[in-house]
Amino acid sequence: MITSVVGLQFGDEGKGKVVDFLAGRHDVVVKYNGGRNAGHTVVTKAGTFKFHLIPSGSLRAKEIILANGMTIDPMFLVEEIENAKKANPHIRIFVSKLAHVVTEIHTYLDTAEEAARGKMKIGTTAKGIGPAYEDKYGRTGVRMEDLLSPELLKEKLSLIVKMKDSLLRESKYGVPAEIDRIVLELSATGKKVAEFLCDTEQLLNDRYRSGDSILFEGSHGAMLDVDFGMYPYVTSSNTISGAISASTGFPARKLQKIVGVVKSYTSRVGDGPFPTEIHGDMASTLRDLGREYGTTTGRPRRVGWLDLQLVKYAVMINDVDTIALTSVDTLGKLDTVRVATGYYRNGKEVAGIVRHLGDLDGIEVRYREFKPWGALEDSQISDIVENGQDSMPASMREFIDFVQERCGRPVEFVSLGNLREKTLILGSLAKIGA
Ligand code: IMP
Repeated sequence: MITSVVGLQFGDEGKGKVVDFLAGRHDVVVKYNGGRNAGHTVVTKAGTFKFHLIPSGSLRAKEIILANGMTIDPMFLVEEIENAKKANPHIRIFVSKLAHVVTEIHTYLDTAEEAARGKMKIGTTAKGIGPAYEDKYGRTGVRMEDLLSPELLKEKLSLIVKMKDSLLRESKYGVPAEIDRIVLELSATGKKVAEFLCDTEQLLNDRYRSGDSILFEGSHGAMLDVDFGMYPYVTSSNTISGAISASTGFPARKLQKIVGVVKSYTSRVGDGPFPTEIHGDMASTLRDLGREYGTTTGRPRRVGWLDLQLVKYAVMINDVDTIALTSVDTLGKLDTVRVATGYYRNGKEVAGIVRHLGDLDGIEVRYREFKPWGALEDSQISDIVENGQDSMPASMREFIDFVQERCGRPVEFVSLGNLREKTLILGSLAKIGA
């Protein structure tokens, strides 16, 4: 089976848990976009594992690939590889030679660019991702294979500093000795990562030909996609399933199943439009119940109601086959449970998504309310996991049916808690790799 998992909101949908489940049922797990800006959490009885660069499937995967579409901070990669090997000693790790490198200059530029944007700031994670992709598309980028060539590294870094002169002149990077220091550090790290570097596009296609099952783990979410998200409040890569081909060298036509992950409410970090955002006490309650603090930055996340108009759009652009619905337990604990069904202006329905801040003017969001299903006891959760929807509180079942009906796709993964065991798996997802 060739499967992909993508987020259908603003990231932080709970993809880590879905990927962790599917990783045990595939031979290869591939990460293909973003970098340290992403953060996935997997909770097991052995502890809580947080991943950024390496796939969240790393606990269960036999083999992981970091493909060319990623932007990689090599020092951080070395750290994460060490942690992954502690948790999963037999894991095989491959990193594309063509993936782009995030250096400390990019990280510095990320903060400097945000400061220059002033009130137009994006609220980035400040991990250097945007500037590294700028250099990639500006054709001045550093690639992982360049770490093995100090001369080329020096030439490329000098060029980056020259081209970004206005932002770097006043910084410590305006001095050539600093470039020499970075080249030394990166080259030393290059020696550590050399054993993992390879032509991952070749490897991936070879694995496919030999009959391996492959799982593609998307980072971020559809609304952070650089083309289809709420530009400019987006990340710097394509996050939708269509990005897989260009970001890995694996043919798009061979994808068989696309799993879209939807959290039962919405959260986002950073600035930008958020039509169903809630404020005040209800927001604080939801933020605390859902532990909505950034995995990467620790920032409190903005929270709001599930927005089905937005999710329907994400289902379309990702060509989603099946939905994984997460945090169903958390939503039910609120005094009020609401789901946004559509946008209206002057009483008329507004199609599509709200892409620009100005589009929110005069917008009325309409909601459907559900009876809260309350905090679930562990025994109740076990009953649902064993016996399926019939054991759910009626209002929870209605909520899930409503999501399926509005999105036109089945919900085949229902997450009822952070632990792996607290998950109901149905239909075609239950059959994968079984
Ligand atoms: P950048 O990717 O660091 O450039 O940040 C751009 C926008 O994407 C900011 O609003 C970030 O908060 C957001 N972002 C990037 N990665 C993630 C993620 O994995 N989860 C949630 N938000 C993210």
